[in-house]
Amino acid sequence: MSNYRPLVFAHRGGGDALPEHTLGAYLQALKDGVDGLECDVRLTRDGHLVCVHDRRLGRTSNGRGLVSTKTLAELDSLDFGSWHPGYPVDEEPLPDLTRLLTLDRLLEAVRDSGRQVRLLIETKHPSRYGAEVERRLVQMLRRHGLAEQRPDDPVRVTVMSFAALALRRVRAQAPTIPTVYLVELLPPGVGVTRGRLPFGARIAGPGVGLVRARPGLIPAIRAAGHQAYIWTVNEKADLDLVLEHRVDGVITDRPRFVLDRLAEM
Ligand code: G3P
Ligand code: CA
Repeated sequence: MSNYRPLVFAHRGGGDALPEHTLGAYLQALKDGVDGLECDVRLTRDGHLVCVHDRRLGRTSNGRGLVSTKTLAELDSLDFGSWHPGYPVDEEPLPDLTRLLTLDRLLEAVRDSGRQVRLLIETKHPSRYGAEVERRLVQMLRRHGLAEQRPDDPVRVTVMSFAALALRRVRAQAPTIPTVYLVELLPPGVGVTRGRLPFGARIAGPGVGLVRARPGLIPAIRAAGHQAYIWTVNEKADLDLVLEHRVDGVITDRPRFVLDRLAEM
C-alpha cells in the first residue's frame, strides 16, 4: 500500500494495556514507537492542569467526587492505577503507574525523552469551566517553550476540543498552535459534513463510528483542505476502514496493535 502511513497516537497513553493517563503508560507508548500521545486536561480546585479524562474520580482512581472540587495535593494522594487489569500486581509499588499525572510533568517527560513527539491535548470541559482551562494551558505551554510552534520543534503540541469556543480561545492566545475540532458520534453539523471547521481548526477529529456511518465524511474533510485524525480506533475492522480512507492520524487505546498492523503492510 505505497508508503502511506498515518501518525499513531496513544489515546490517554494507551489505556488498554496500562492505566490511562499515567506516566508509565505514556513512557511505554513512546518506547513502543508511537508518533504522539493524546491527553485530556482538567483543572483542579486550586488551578492546576491534571491529566484525567472523567469529571468524576471513581472510574480511574480510589477517590470519589469531582476532580474540580479537589486540590492538587488531595488528588496526588490517590491511586490512579492499581485498579487496572494491566497493573503488575507482583511488583513493588510503581508510582509511574499509580500517581496522578500533571500536564507539567507530562511535558517535562516528553521533552526529556529526547524523541520527536506530537502531543494532542484535549481541554475538558470548556463549556463548564469557562476560559480558565485554555488560559492556563497556553500559559503552561509558554512556560515550556511550546506556545509558538515551529515545524522542526521536537515536541509539537496540538490542542483539541469538542467545543468550537475552546478552539477560538486557543487561537486567540497562541495562533501558531494547530487545533483539532472533535466531532461526536451524533450527526455533525452541516458545516462539518461539508468539511468546514470552525475558528481556523486545521484538523477534523471525528469518532470512528461517524466515519463508519458517513463514508463521505473523510473525502469532504480532505476536499476542504483539512487533515483527519480519527478516534478511538481499537478494532481491526475500524483500523482497516480508516486506513482505506488514508486518514492522517489514528488515535488508539491499543498503540502496539496499530503499530504491528502498520508494520505488516
Ligand atoms: O482523541 C479524542 C478523544 O479522546 C475524544 O473522546 O472522550 O476519549 O476524550 P474522549
Ligand atoms: Ca480525549
